[in-house]
Amino acid sequence: MDLLHIENLSIRFNTPEGPARAVDRVDFELGPGETLGLVGESGCGKSVTALSILGLIPNPPGTIEQGRILFSGRDLLTLDQASLRHIRGNTIAMIFQEPMTSLNPVLTIGRQVTEPLRAHKGLNKQQSEQEALHWLERVKIPSAKNHLRSYPHQLSGGMRQRVMIAMAMAVKPNILIADEPTTALDVTIQAQILSLMLELRKEIRSSLLLITHDMGVVAQMADRVVVMYAGQVLEQAETQELFQTPLHPYTQGLLKSMPRLIRQKDRISSRLSEIRGTVPRLTQHIPGCKFAARCDSAFARCREQQPDLKDTGTGHLVRCWLHAA
Ligand SMILES: Nc1ncnc2c1ncn2[C@@H]1O[C@H](COP(=O)(O)OP(=O)(O)OP(=O)(O)O)[C@@H](O)[C@H]1O
Ligand SMILES: [Mg+2]
Repeated sequence: MDLLHIENLSIRFNTPEGPARAVDRVDFELGPGETLGLVGESGCGKSVTALSILGLIPNPPGTIEQGRILFSGRDLLTLDQASLRHIRGNTIAMIFQEPMTSLNPVLTIGRQVTEPLRAHKGLNKQQSEQEALHWLERVKIPSAKNHLRSYPHQLSGGMRQRVMIAMAMAVKPNILIADEPTTALDVTIQAQILSLMLELRKEIRSSLLLITHDMGVVAQMADRVVVMYAGQVLEQAETQELFQTPLHPYTQGLLKSMPRLIRQKDRISSRLSEIRGTVPRLTQHIPGCKFAARCDSAFARCREQQPDLKDTGTGHLVRCWLHAA
C-alpha cells in the first residue's frame, strides 16, 4: 500500500480579486522509502499542497474544496487538531525553506531539538539531550555540545538549516517533507545539505517529498517526479524516464531552462533559456489547457478544452492533447 495518497485534492483561497484555485484536482502517491520530487514555477501550488498534508492551510482564506489525503489508509483531512498535532513533527516532519520562520527565536537549539523527542517519543530530559546531541553531530554542527545552548540567530543560515534537519530526522518520521530546503543557501552549502539529507534519509528509511523548482536537485535526489503548473499536475514519471522522455511541452521547457555549463574557448559560462510568458492568474478562468498561452505546440483544441491527466501506459502520466491518443 502507498504510504501517502493525495486524491483529487482541490484548495481555494478567497482573495480580493475573487476565488483562486491554488490546487486543482491534484492526485499523486508517495511510496514507502521513496523520494518524490514536486516541481514547478513559483506560485504553482507546491507549498500549499505540502501544507495541506499537515493540516496547515489557514482558513480563512483557504478552503479544501474536495479530495482526500490518505496516510496509511486514514484521511488526514478528517482528523481533529489533537490528532494532527500528534502526526506533525512526529510521523510526518517538515523542513521549510527559511529556518528562521520555523525555528523559535527565543528558545535554545537544544530545547527545540529535544522538545519533539520528549513530547512524541517519551524520552526523559537526559535521553532527549543525548539524542539531540547525536543528531546535531550527525548534521555536522561543529562543537555541537556548545550549540545546545545557542539561540537560532547565533548560527549562520546553513547551520540553522542543519538544525532543522536534525529536528526532523531525530523523530525518525515516516514521511519527511522538505520545501525548498536549500534555496536560501549558497551553492556549495546547498550541495552539502542535499547530500546530507540523502544520507540520513537512507538511514532512517523515511519517504521524502522534496519540493523544489530546481530540476538539477530533482535529477540528483528523486526517484519519481510530479510536475505542477497553475495548481495542476501536468506530468508524472520516474525521474530517469522524465529526463529522457519529457512529454509535456512545459516539462520540456523546464528541462531546457536548467542551467548548463558551456565551455567556450577558456571561458565557462552558464546559459539559461526561459519559458516565454508568465504563469496565469489563479483567479482567471481558463477553459482549455492552462499552459496553452505559453506553449509553442498549442492548437485550437488546447485553448478550448482541458485535457485530463492520462497514463501513457507505463506509469508515465501527462495532461496534454498532444499525447491524448
Ligand atoms: N494564505 C494565502 N492566501 C491567499 N493566497 C494564497 C495563500 N497561500 C498561498 N496562496 C496562493 O496559492 C498559490 C500557490 O502558492 P504556493 O505557495 O503553493 O506556491 P509554490 O508553488 O510553493 O511557489 P514558490 O515556488 O514560490 O514557493 C499562489 O498563487 C499563492 O498566492
Ligand atoms: Mg513554495
